[in-house]
Amino acid sequence: MSENLKADAGRAALEWVHDGMKLGIGTGSTAEAFIDALAPKVAGGLQIVGVPTSERTRAHCEKLGVPLTTLEETPHLDLTIDGADEIDPALNLIKGGGGALLREKVVAAASDAMVVIADDSKLVEALGAFPLPIEVNAFGLAATRIAIEEVAMQHQLSGDLELRKGEGSEPYLTDGGHLIIDASFSRILEPEALSVNLNSIPGVVEHGLFTGLATRAIVAGQGGVKVIESSK
Ligand code: 5RP
Repeated sequence: MSENLKADAGRAALEWVHDGMKLGIGTGSTAEAFIDALAPKVAGGLQIVGVPTSERTRAHCEKLGVPLTTLEETPHLDLTIDGADEIDPALNLIKGGGGALLREKVVAAASDAMVVIADDSKLVEALGAFPLPIEVNAFGLAATRIAIEEVAMQHQLSGDLELRKGEGSEPYLTDGGHLIIDASFSRILEPEALSVNLNSIPGVVEHGLFTGLATRAIVAGQGGVKVIESSK
């Protein structure tokens, strides 16, 4: 069922894709639904070029013939289209469930606009029920974990900080070779301040709070697709 809704959101996003655009292309099952909808348009003559936000997305685009570039060649993008794990009413996001948060944030920040695509299960009143992915350097992991706990306490947050597992018992490694700590904070009431404070920890590479980046959300539900515009 939610696969159909993801496909609806992915198809609806095509309305914002125009000839000649340089696109950031997100990661995850909803982003792949968008790529699935985009590929036939490209085959039919739509001229776009995309920067993939993960090796997984690169492989999916290459398989379907979506032309790709890099941020080195094309450092400024018109639009990024990506999924999310949670979306709050101000279009703050939690991302990184698929582990691609660092490249996703770099690509979104290099774009004039970011359109989030999702099924309506991703809409929340406050972020945090979905554990916040925090990408960390392996060096000094124990010290970084303590620093994260201290920042969390400043925001009256607590909860498990779980090192994400990959295949077997090995830690999950991001495309950049880093680790991910999933922080079960439950309810994040100050996402912008928490974002700044987490990024001030030296061992934190990036985290999955996306504040002030999404300009529009395309959300598919049983009643159809609705578009939520950023008020900023
Ligand atoms: C990957 C992400 C994804 O956008 C997020 O996890 C949503 O994935 P899906 O569309 O499969 O529900 O942030 O890092």
